[in-house]
Amino acid sequence: MEKKWVTVMGSFVADLAFRTGRIPAWGETLMGRSFKLGPGGKGSNQAVAAARAGGRVSFISKLGQDAFGDMARNLYKIEGIDTRFLFTTTSATGAAAIIIDAEKGENAIIVVPGACFELTAAEIDQARALIAGSSVFVAQLELSLAVVEHGLRLAHALGVPTILNPAPAAPLTESIYQYIDYITPNETEAAALTGMPVANVADAEKAADAFIARGVQNVLITLGAQGVFVKNARVNAHVPAVNAGRVVETTGAGDAFNGGFAVALSEGMDLVEAAHFGCVTAGISITRPGTAPSMPARAEIDALPL
Ligand code: RIB
Repeated sequence: MEKKWVTVMGSFVADLAFRTGRIPAWGETLMGRSFKLGPGGKGSNQAVAAARAGGRVSFISKLGQDAFGDMARNLYKIEGIDTRFLFTTTSATGAAAIIIDAEKGENAIIVVPGACFELTAAEIDQARALIAGSSVFVAQLELSLAVVEHGLRLAHALGVPTILNPAPAAPLTESIYQYIDYITPNETEAAALTGMPVANVADAEKAADAFIARGVQNVLITLGAQGVFVKNARVNAHVPAVNAGRVVETTGAGDAFNGGFAVALSEGMDLVEAAHFGCVTAGISITRPGTAPSMPARAEIDALPL
């Protein structure tokens, strides 16, 4: 297997994860069941997922000079992620408050991106040669939208396939769509971006048509336990979710999907195969606690039937 470069541009934040029986009301203090501090941020999680899935990964972001920033730097050393374009600022590294339903594993998240939100278009331009040599370029929406659009535009101009995971849900400019080769919203994000309800595969197909009408060639709408709906000019497919065991925590499942999907594309898998590879990656990740720490190794992905 030839290894190709996957370049991820995005956020790092520290995840402060609280397991609890329910979410507190405003003004209420609840006793939680457990707490864990760990690395998070959608961009960073996707970079880790891709690295563990077998990709050679570069991560473009910005960190503070603080304990959370050091957590990230240590993580990339351990995971073998290239950090040549990991910039530094005097601002604090961001954090996410993650509240996890102790029974169902579902989550509610508040993210404050902090240092990574200061990444600039000029810094992305410094990574031009890296991006030009990449097999795929991946972005999400935890950086400023102008910076996300700049990165996608640069990668697109350099002929590098781009993936935008439009998470968390936020309004996009009309101009950004022309630079997106693969868009990977979940049902909430697809609904927010298209203005249509997206609760099942039939809804997802209609939403996919709306993205295609805006100029995106390949649409993958992730539907949690219902799997992924995939559409382009030639393919119209439902790829089922993969059950890899008891669900412990769904936080980061979308990141696992995107990291795995990016690696699969970089290895030349076709759209449906790559979506399935992403589903296997996500299916394993949700059987474990945490976000980046829950990402599976390539051997674990390969052990489940493709
Ligand atoms: O997708 C999950 C991630 O979203 C968490 O790690 C949290 O940091 C938020 O950014």
